[in-house]
Amino acid sequence: MSQYILALDQGTTSSRAILFDRVGALIGTAQHEFTQIFPAGKQGWVEHDPFEILTSQMSAAVEVLGRAGVRPRDVAAIGITNQRETAIVWDRETGRPVYNAVVWQDRRTADACAELVKSGAEDDVRRRTGLRLDPYFSGTKVAWILDNISGARERAERGELAFGTVDSWLIWNLTSGKRHITDRTNASRTLLYNIVEDRWDDELLRLLRVPRSMMPEVVWSSEALGPVSTTLGLEGVEIAGIAGDQQSALFGQMCTRPGDAKNTYGTGCFLLQHMGSTFRQSEHRLLTTLACSVDRKLEYALEGSVFIGGAVVQWLRDGLGIIDSSSDVEALALSVPDSGGVMFVPAFTGMGAPHWDPYASGMMIGIGRGTTKAHIARAAVDSIALQTADLMRAMNADTPAPLRELRVDGGAAANNMLMQFQADLLSVPVHRPACLETTAMGAAFLAGLAVGFWPNTDEIQRKQDAGTVFQPQHDYSALDARWQEAIARAKGWNR
Ligand code: G3P
Repeated sequence: MSQYILALDQGTTSSRAILFDRVGALIGTAQHEFTQIFPAGKQGWVEHDPFEILTSQMSAAVEVLGRAGVRPRDVAAIGITNQRETAIVWDRETGRPVYNAVVWQDRRTADACAELVKSGAEDDVRRRTGLRLDPYFSGTKVAWILDNISGARERAERGELAFGTVDSWLIWNLTSGKRHITDRTNASRTLLYNIVEDRWDDELLRLLRVPRSMMPEVVWSSEALGPVSTTLGLEGVEIAGIAGDQQSALFGQMCTRPGDAKNTYGTGCFLLQHMGSTFRQSEHRLLTTLACSVDRKLEYALEGSVFIGGAVVQWLRDGLGIIDSSSDVEALALSVPDSGGVMFVPAFTGMGAPHWDPYASGMMIGIGRGTTKAHIARAAVDSIALQTADLMRAMNADTPAPLRELRVDGGAAANNMLMQFQADLLSVPVHRPACLETTAMGAAFLAGLAVGFWPNTDEIQRKQDAGTVFQPQHDYSALDARWQEAIARAKGWNR
């Protein structure tokens, strides 16, 4: 009998493969970073090579199986979770992408979105999709590709091109082009899916000028979808779970009842709260999105999305070179008592919730002769928690009951200083599970439930570990006024 579930976690900066056994224990993990493409002279553009996404993901999968001595036939199912909103357009015949993947962080369609807002389209878009007209989402990125790559629009009109987020691209390749699908959680991030009526929305497709024929079939997050049929190393294994990474983490934390919430500290920070089965629009500049469902009924979540979270630490490493590895940031930041008055707004790719300004810029203010790299590191870590506090305030204003605790996960949640500061800022306990791989766990659970590897969610609930709780200790509420002032100054700079 197959003993394992394999989760493929295709994130913004790396592709990871994680193997779980029947008790939900992590057996092995492999991670391959891939190239971030920032086209020269193009402020705010971010691209990935779709083939590098595919090969980095497959090599991570092959590596994790090889290291654990597990054969494909020992794997009961594969669950896929992915960076969301990133748009790929490819030729159905040749399988070749017509352009690089335009990444969720990419701001190139900011003006197009501003025009649509000016035309008065936003209220209707929000009513149908729960989203805002922001370059973050896939729809305007697809239109950009069709408008800017020679012949692409004509080919798309003739039905020759396919669109997909990263899940679709991976599955299309893993099934040798047999399945062009996406799940509801990913579809809900495109600006093209009506999350109230559960369908691609022809009026939105018309508004954003995306031909219907390009769209993938929409499936449930937990369902047997067919075997891998390529010779890439996973032949015959059933693909049985798909979810956007943030909804996957929500499920991986077993936040399945209304009011359950988690914050993931990955490239960005994403606070999601389960809302149950009733669609409701945010009144405080958050998003409504589809959550994972295992019983084939629509479930919704309220989401606050911050674009730069853990990525600010990567920038300290790769951009400034003041740390050698991301884990060094905690010691450097702790070497000073505070940021010495430095405020760091990491709006490298504009601002997401609750400010929504694609023209905002990264900014540091409060620098003096005494400022050291330690103060900058401290201000960078502070910024992750301060942005999350903005999200939580908006979320508490949007929901009947304020959050009484925050569950956390993602790479940067390993930083104890950040977690303590987060608890202090929010004045609620911060609960960190022992295994931070909840995004991958979510995809594994979805796949395992679909093929009967686990009988039901109660069984999974029992596997959740205790973890660590950070209790609020200090009052940092005075910091907030300075933070809001810094945010206001960073807005609009790139207009
Ligand atoms: O919406 C963007 C999100 O899916 C990216 O996630 O984990 O790559 O930061 P991550």
